Amino acid sequence: MDASPHAAPAVPAGYGLETVVRHTYERSRTDISGALADYIPELALVDPDRFGIAAVSVEGEVVSVGDADVAFTIQSISKAFAFCLALEVAGREKVLSRVGVEPSGDAFNAIVFDAKTNRPFNPMVNAGAITVSGLLVEHLGAEALEFVLDRFSAAAGRRLAVDEAVFRSEAETAHRNRGIAHLLTSAGTLTAGVDATLDLYFRQCSILVTASDLARMGATLANIGENPLTGTTAFAVDAVRATLAVMFTCGMYNFAGNWAFDVGVPAKSGVGGGILGVVNRQLGIATYSPRLDGRGNSVRGIAAFRELAEELGLHVFDPTNRGSAMLSALGR
Ligand code: DON
Repeated sequence: MDASPHAAPAVPAGYGLETVVRHTYERSRTDISGALADYIPELALVDPDRFGIAAVSVEGEVVSVGDADVAFTIQSISKAFAFCLALEVAGREKVLSRVGVEPSGDAFNAIVFDAKTNRPFNPMVNAGAITVSGLLVEHLGAEALEFVLDRFSAAAGRRLAVDEAVFRSEAETAHRNRGIAHLLTSAGTLTAGVDATLDLYFRQCSILVTASDLARMGATLANIGENPLTGTTAFAVDAVRATLAVMFTCGMYNFAGNWAFDVGVPAKSGVGGGILGVVNRQLGIATYSPRLDGRGNSVRGIAAFRELAEELGLHVFDPTNRGSAMLSALGR
C-alpha cells in the first residue's frame, strides 16, 4: 500500500477542475424538487430554474458554469462573514460572551436559547446572527453597514450593494425576527437597540451577490482572509479560523451533521438559494439554485456539493486526501 496521501488522485491528471464542475452541473440540473422561500414575499418572485456553480482556487483559477453570474440576495450566508467581522471588531471574548458556538440542531429561525448561558446557540441561526449584528452596531454605530459592505466587497473583489426591495420586503414582514430581537434585548444579550440592529441584519441579508462573487468570498476565507485574485486583505486570520469552525459545525442548520458526514467542508446556506463551501487553503465553491428543501437549504446546491466533494476528494477527513492530490497535480 502506498503511504503517500498524494499518490492516488481519484480524477486522472488533466481532468481539471472546470471539467468536474461542468459534469457536476449537468448531473445536478435535472432535479427541480424543492420550493422558493416565500416568507419574505420578494424572494418568491425569483426565477426558480436558475442554477449556477462557481469555484475559485487560492492560486487564482476561476471556474463558472450556468447562472453563476445571476445576482441573488446573500441572506444567511452573510451570517458567516458578519461573525468573522464581529470577532475582529468586538474581540473574541466579548463575542463569545454573547453568542455560543454549539450546533443547535434546530431550524434557522427557532426561538431557542442555551438554557445555561441564555445565549443563542451559535452565530449561524437567526438569534445568534442578530446578536452579531447588534455587536457590529454597538461598536461601529451608523458606520456598521458601510463597514460590512466594504469588507464583503473586498472579499468579492467588486463593489457589492443592497437590494432595497428585498430589504423592505423582509423588514415589513419580519415579525419573528423582531420577536427574537426583543427577547435578546430583554435577556441583556442585545444592547444596540432592536431597530438599529435589525436594520443592519436585514440589509446585510439583502446584499446582492452572484455565485462567482460568493466563490471569491469563499476563496478569500480559504486563503486565510486575503482575496487571492486582488491581494486585498478582507478578514483577520484568527477570525477566519473561528468562522470556518462554526461554519463546519453549524452552517447548514439542522442538516449540519449530515453535511459534515457527506460533504465535509465548512459551508453556509441562505434562503436566497446560495450555498458557499470553503475547502481550507484550496478553494471557494458556490452554488446558486433557489428551490429549497424543508430546512431552507438549496436542493440542487446540496446535490452539487455532494458530487464535487466525491469527485474532488474535498472532505476534510478523506483518508486519501484526493482533492489536495488533484489540485496539486494540476499545479495550482
Ligand atoms: O432572517 C431571515 O429570515 C433571513 N434574512 C435569512 C434566513 C436564511 O437565509 C436562512 N437560511 N437558510
